[in-house]
Amino acid sequence: MPPALTREAQDAAEAHALGDEYVAALGKIINSHVRNEATGAAVFDEPSISLAPTPREKWLACRMAMEEYGHHLKFNKLANELGLEDAGDRPPLSVFDYQVGSWAGYVMTKAIVDLAEVVLMEDLCECSYLPLRRLCRSLMPEERFHVRFGTTSAKRLAADPDAREEVRSSAHRLIAMTLPFFGRSESRNNEVFRRWGIKRLTNDEARAEFVRRTRALLCDDLGLDYPEVPTRWPGTTN
Ligand SMILES: [Fe+2]
Ligand SMILES: [Fe+2]
Repeated sequence: MPPALTREAQDAAEAHALGDEYVAALGKIINSHVRNEATGAAVFDEPSISLAPTPREKWLACRMAMEEYGHHLKFNKLANELGLEDAGDRPPLSVFDYQVGSWAGYVMTKAIVDLAEVVLMEDLCECSYLPLRRLCRSLMPEERFHVRFGTTSAKRLAADPDAREEVRSSAHRLIAMTLPFFGRSESRNNEVFRRWGIKRLTNDEARAEFVRRTRALLCDDLGLDYPEVPTRWPGTTN
């Protein structure tokens, strides 16, 4: 598959000069982040503030909610600069159906769902559209902090006999729910993203990286088993 783009687009005008297919492909990526950052903040981070057991953990939860809403606003600014249609025309991803019912459940969303976001963003840190590349690079420290918060808190909770089973069951459920986040194994969209240098990884390569890192977390760091999950996803809803 020869790349269609051998140079980079410095700004929205240069992206439009490359044609509708390039702008539409960027739009799909940027708008999915616009939706997912806001939905994650609303369904995971906001409820966690009242679930947090101590003032310090409430402060951390507030900080992460603020940062996720900030990510939404920054992706939205990029969407506006590119003149994209409203991002709300598609439903949020199914992983956001996960109900955060406890502090341990929230901690695992940061260790697992934010890790999926890190895998996707690492790829976009080399994106041919420089405003998106710059934004993702600038957000990586916060996303990595969210994952680190999740994994260090998970280690502490997994060592507590009263919380260990909840850590395990939340992790297993979230890993299964996050696999479709990477898209279909056979994806025309992903082919277009790679042809234009927007992404480098296939959906299955990104999914495999997520499985590798979550397996290390569960099996090596937490001493838990890993769920039986498919490494490919044929796709049902997106
Ligand atoms: Fe985020
Ligand atoms: Fe995050």
